[in-house]
Amino acid sequence: MPHPSHHKARRAEFLAALDGPVLLMAGGWISRNYPANWSPYRADSTFLFFFPEVEPNAAALFDPKDGSVTLFLDERTQADALWHGPVPSFADVKKAQGVSAVQKRSELAAFVAKKVGKRALRTVAIADPRATAEALAITGERLDFHDNQKVADPALVATIAELRNFKRPEELAEMRLTAVTTRLAHTAAMAHTRPGIREQELVGHVEGTFARHGCVPAYNTILSVRGEVLHNHAHGNLLHDTDLVLLDAGAEAPSGYCSDVTRTWPVSGHFSPEGAEVYDIVLAAEKAAIDAVKPGMRYRDVHMLAARVLTDGLVQMGLMKGNVDALVENGAHAMFFPHGTGHLLGLDVHDLEAFGDQVAYARGRKRSEQFGTAYLRLDLDLQPGMCVTIEPGIYFVPAILRDAAFKKQWKGQVDFARAERFLTMNSGRGFGGIRIEDDVLCTTDGREVLTAAIPKERLAIEALVGSAGR
Ligand code: GLY
Ligand code: MN
Ligand code: MN
Repeated sequence: MPHPSHHKARRAEFLAALDGPVLLMAGGWISRNYPANWSPYRADSTFLFFFPEVEPNAAALFDPKDGSVTLFLDERTQADALWHGPVPSFADVKKAQGVSAVQKRSELAAFVAKKVGKRALRTVAIADPRATAEALAITGERLDFHDNQKVADPALVATIAELRNFKRPEELAEMRLTAVTTRLAHTAAMAHTRPGIREQELVGHVEGTFARHGCVPAYNTILSVRGEVLHNHAHGNLLHDTDLVLLDAGAEAPSGYCSDVTRTWPVSGHFSPEGAEVYDIVLAAEKAAIDAVKPGMRYRDVHMLAARVLTDGLVQMGLMKGNVDALVENGAHAMFFPHGTGHLLGLDVHDLEAFGDQVAYARGRKRSEQFGTAYLRLDLDLQPGMCVTIEPGIYFVPAILRDAAFKKQWKGQVDFARAERFLTMNSGRGFGGIRIEDDVLCTTDGREVLTAAIPKERLAIEALVGSAGR
């Protein structure tokens, strides 16, 4: 957990950038089924950015007029102490966190009304609908968490993004720690892979490793022999000797910072000739894109570079035909690489994605409408301190490669008959997909791969697969 002085410094930066008061909500418990049975608690990411050890239901008023930060917490009751254990007193929290005051959460509306008076008060809509409704009633704003254009006033969004986008050493230390846990999880899953088990057994190794290190999954774990289903969260398939396992999983620390990593490996421990060929193309694309990360580099250009390396490999394999630059420019690569190369990473696995393209796309840049490139989540010029993922892949997706309109559109550019062989190989189960994903920090002189210690060379992976049983 970053030292409280880190959060205090971040709050001071926020106050200095504000021209009026802001109310932030952490969010409360979310019920799973009946009211008292809760999902694990997760505070809103912007709240986590400013405060450590966030209690459910916390709220905070930032007032640049007097430079104060008032924290609002639930009152300490005997019943809470009985059921949930003792919690620090308001005085202890005030001292530990260095806030101006700690007030009763039940008096939030009255306290804010008195302190803010007639001044405009802004807030941020968050995932917890009850907390958001309360904040909207207090501020009078008309916001909507589910419309990324209306999550908060655009100027406030820009102020928050300007802080959250540039990771400080304390934040990077958290991300390096989650990278270690993520490495242990991925290597455990590789080591325990063997034919005849179900995907969920390996998910147990992944999420058990996270739990043993005090972490939770930063997002629903993707572990599947159906790697061509991009966000496949079902874990019931049996592993066949000739299948590939795609694991996309990242640990999230109690501070909220996380990793997002994908590896792909053969169940047998040996890549087939086709598997090795496709793997090497994806790895070459991933490495080229990582090497392109540096200050001033436009992320869309990183994406296009990855697409060109993938396309070049697919042309060499005979799956695509024509000039590589033209194929990528026209979007033909999306028949095998239908998503973007990556996204911002930090407290959210897709960092700040709730705010949409007003954060992820530089001013004046619009999302492409072309199939594939339309899924590019990021088009900023990279700057030191930004963390991004690099995650190219090649997939054999029946819904794409058997689509009549695509087959007509790309008749001269894609060898659909050859692609069909990949859809039907592996005793009819198909080739699946290969993605390789790492987390990359843009530094003043280039980049640092935060997840570099997670094996991805073919030989290293082959040596690990099944090693727990040997
Ligand atoms: N884990 C989701 C992603 O890679 O974006
Ligand atoms: Mn990702
Ligand atoms: Mn991922």
